[in-house]
Amino acid sequence: MSRPIQARIDATALAQNLRVIRKRSASRILAVIKADAYGHGVLRAAEALEEADGFGLLNIRDALRVREAGHRQPILLLEGCFDANDMALAAEHGLSCVVHSDWQLGLLDAYPKRAALEVWLKINTGMNRLGFNPQDVPAVIARLRGHAAVGNVVLMTHFANADEGSIDAPLNLFRDIAAQFRLPRSLANSAALLRYPQIHGEWVRPGLALYGASPFAETSAAALGLKPVMTLSSRVIAVRELRAGDEVGYGATFRAERSMRVGIVACGYADGYPRHAGTGTPVLVAGQRTRSLGRVSMDMLCVDLSALSGAGVGSEVVLWGEGLPVEEIALSAGTISYELMCGLTARVPVVG
Ligand SMILES: Cc1ncc(COP(=O)(O)O)c(C=O)c1O
Repeated sequence: MSRPIQARIDATALAQNLRVIRKRSASRILAVIKADAYGHGVLRAAEALEEADGFGLLNIRDALRVREAGHRQPILLLEGCFDANDMALAAEHGLSCVVHSDWQLGLLDAYPKRAALEVWLKINTGMNRLGFNPQDVPAVIARLRGHAAVGNVVLMTHFANADEGSIDAPLNLFRDIAAQFRLPRSLANSAALLRYPQIHGEWVRPGLALYGASPFAETSAAALGLKPVMTLSSRVIAVRELRAGDEVGYGATFRAERSMRVGIVACGYADGYPRHAGTGTPVLVAGQRTRSLGRVSMDMLCVDLSALSGAGVGSEVVLWGEGLPVEEIALSAGTISYELMCGLTARVPVVG
């Protein structure tokens, strides 16, 4: 028997979350399936999200795999092409490309043939990551419009504060530019599409919400009608009885105040469970909520079984997913649910 850890993917929940988003937006939905669909498996996600109007990816090899699997929707390369070879492949396979910098305009110029490449022109509205500054956009659009290799142009931006705080300033910058051109627009990731229905434009670009996690600190995924897609589970592989004063794990960061039962779970940071999740991180054992104890080690973590009389060796442990939102674990570990889902390591079998 193999080690009992696995990440189970609920494809029905993925499709259901897409329907929830569809009800909240009349725009076309570009399902973001980069980073191996946030750890859920890119081909599995593309299949479950077949009703999506398009897919957003990073890596051209993944885009070609999605095409080869028979998905005919538009596929957008979210960082665009990295060299002339990519550009030729994108043109050949009908992939759309973000263009965010002058050097990528240069790649277009080097493309020797006529093509109808769809270009999503990225505008930097204050995040200062990728994108042309607003004042440069009219000239870039003029260049794209006259370009033999370019077909449709879509205007896009990405907000730094869609989940909390204000997007007023970047939104106004984007609107001022976009108002000068009759071009389709795309502004919203999960947080922006859930929080600002008025800014959806022609395309929305959800990632996180599709996977059933909430982008907001104060609103749970369940309250948004979203279901977790990934459930990371394992089993208790040993049980120890502790006396008052006994310590647990590396660094002896947990010391028992009274006698306790402790379960050792086959899941550690080498599986992608966050080492920074300290004592008290919630865990489900045999369907009941309890807490972790001490430091997470490479292959194992310890849980409190003292109040769970029926639990023992072989009991199922849910680390996150159904019944235990990944957001809770992220909070305990001082990170975000994206990092946990994307951070599953290759040794964890992804099933379902
Ligand atoms: C440009 C762009 N659009 C959309 C998304 C999806 O964001 P989210 O997963 O928050 O919905 C991302 C993700 O990082 C992104 O980089």
